[in-house]
Amino acid sequence: MSALYLSLHTLAAVFWIGGIFFAYMVMRPVSAQLEPPARLRMWVSIYTRFFPWVWIFIAVLILSGYLDMLARFGQNTPLYLIAMQVVGWLMILIFAWLYFVLFARLRRAVAAENWSEGGAVMNPIRRVMAVNLGLGVLISVVGVAGPFFG
Ligand code: HEM
Repeated sequence: MSALYLSLHTLAAVFWIGGIFFAYMVMRPVSAQLEPPARLRMWVSIYTRFFPWVWIFIAVLILSGYLDMLARFGQNTPLYLIAMQVVGWLMILIFAWLYFVLFARLRRAVAAENWSEGGAVMNPIRRVMAVNLGLGVLISVVGVAGPFFG
């Protein structure tokens, strides 16, 4: 069963972190060439399609992570899996803030065609994406290298 849990866990992590990488490192610099109305509308469309997937990835990560942890480690949680949970929940909380607060503000601004407010809210969104990309790299290293150190 652990093979299934770990496969699902890895796929969800790859898709989530890979999606942030693509948005932050590729889409963001390219989108800077567009005028604010087109750029902000495009980001709303991109997030509207990507974020429901992220909720699915989060559900899969939590479920597969805890099921595998219980099955293989029981009550003896190794240190790297405590780190995994701390960083994992931090990423989830940050995403929840991005989704419920910042993305909601961006959607409202774009619906009202308030481009200055829309442009302003993209600044914290950018920072949040950068932070979650960094945490995504960290958690991947913890997950892969952790078992070698215990
Ligand atoms: C918050 C609850 C989480 C729990 C309980 C959990 C649990 C686990 C467990 C048990 C492993 C296997 C470690 C081993 O083989 O010894 C693992 C590995 C891993 N986890 Fe998590 N995890 C959680 C969240 C996350 C999140 C949010 C991400 C990424 C966004 C993530 C990414 C990874 C990666 C990349 C690995 C290494 C590859 C793999 O074995 O699947 N985990 N995690």
